[in-house]
Amino acid sequence: MRALSALVTALAAFSAYYVYTPLPSTVSEPWKLMLLDATFRCAQDLSNLAHFVGLGHHLRVLNFVSGYFDKLEALSSRDMKVTDTVFNGVEVRVFEPTREFAGNLKRSIVYIHGGGWALGSARMRSYDSLCRKVAEDVNAVVVAIEYRLVPDVHFPVPLNDALAATKYFLRPEVLAKYLIDPDRIAVSGDSAGGNLAAAVCQQLTEDSNVTTKVKLQALIYPVLQALDFNTPSYQQNMDMPILSRFVMIKFWLDYLNGSHKFAHSMLVNNHTSLDLSQAVSLRERLNWDSLLPSSFKKNYKPLLPSIGSPNIIQEVPALLDIRASPLVAHKKTIELLPKTYMLTCEHDVLRDDGTMYARRLEDAGVDVTHDHYEDGFHGCMLFATWPTYFSVGARTRDGYIKWLDENL
Ligand SMILES: *[C@@H]1O[C@H](CO)[C@@H](O)[C@H](O)[C@H]1NC(C)=O
Ligand SMILES: *[C@@H]1O[C@H](CO)[C@@H](O)[C@H](O)[C@H]1NC(C)=O
Ligand SMILES: *[C@@H]1O[C@H](CO)[C@@H](O)[C@H](O)[C@H]1NC(C)=O
Repeated sequence: MRALSALVTALAAFSAYYVYTPLPSTVSEPWKLMLLDATFRCAQDLSNLAHFVGLGHHLRVLNFVSGYFDKLEALSSRDMKVTDTVFNGVEVRVFEPTREFAGNLKRSIVYIHGGGWALGSARMRSYDSLCRKVAEDVNAVVVAIEYRLVPDVHFPVPLNDALAATKYFLRPEVLAKYLIDPDRIAVSGDSAGGNLAAAVCQQLTEDSNVTTKVKLQALIYPVLQALDFNTPSYQQNMDMPILSRFVMIKFWLDYLNGSHKFAHSMLVNNHTSLDLSQAVSLRERLNWDSLLPSSFKKNYKPLLPSIGSPNIIQEVPALLDIRASPLVAHKKTIELLPKTYMLTCEHDVLRDDGTMYARRLEDAGVDVTHDHYEDGFHGCMLFATWPTYFSVGARTRDGYIKWLDENL
């Protein structure tokens, strides 16, 4: 009996230690977030362990643990036809509301899911229900792209998949088949999917073969640059749940097929130091001293080492590729972008990526709606339903849907 109670006490102490993370009181439902985060960290630790003992790449294991059991068949209902098909060699899931619609043609949204370019699926419960809800509430056709993931592929393959599927969908004969209004199409995505959505929209502005113009882009806490890991939000939220700064840097290295041995140097911006002329000209486009409001800058100082580690860019040149970091695109590209919705969260390392992009677009004359959630955290829009309901999850999702409905 005594042994049992000692064991229980030890377990409780261990769980409390594992679960407890100091969180700001301003974040939505901190205790719930702590539990969610502990579950995530536990899945990550298990995957790293499995990787270590040779059971498989940690990202594949993590995807297996978090997504595999959860992949849903394409389930149609009376109000929604759901089909898995292939667009130009890329798998997609298409959600078509069967409800009456005004006029002869429907609106549509191309959706690109997040997960650090390595996790998640359009068929996962969370994304399947999000796309279903968007299709239902906006009464629009949603095309969710099942691009290939890291580590099976690396940059630029996920982007090229997303682009190939989008371009196929934009063909007049394909739009006609789905009864889509070519003047009312949006491209959207969250997190790493927001990175791909932003890059897809930029690529489309430069592609003279695509005659259909995208009307809107809607970016949900997107990842937009790999040049500065010391923006005020990276500094302020480096240990925030769901996505810490170090985990984000490792996602970047995996995406760009670089070694994790560079992660510690990238933490101090050694990959874009002042002695690297290529990096310097791009970093001028993300000068957060001029792009961020003072309420975000607070007293954080820019980190611009004068001497860094030039071998990082030599080995991972894609770190300076604009297709990976759409935030640093040339103004000539930016001014051609469609009307934009930007959603950012205060408790998120990526807050400033989104905020700076919104500002660059505005400065270039693009119409931008920027919704910032003071109690939001990275990934919150997926946590809008039981058993992982957060009030900020429902508010972000509903605000996003409302904007789409009013602007598409
Ligand atoms: C446009 O289409 C032509 C013919 O299919 C192709 O050769 C060219 O590379 C395309 N351009 C772009 C920008 O994709
Ligand atoms: C990724 O990097 C590894 C090791 O540096 C290399 O062998 C492999 O060819 C690279 N893969 C791609 C797709 O570039
Ligand atoms: C950053 O670069 C400097 C200069 O090369 C070097 O002394 C320092 O150790 C590097 N820092 C890290 C964390 O790699």
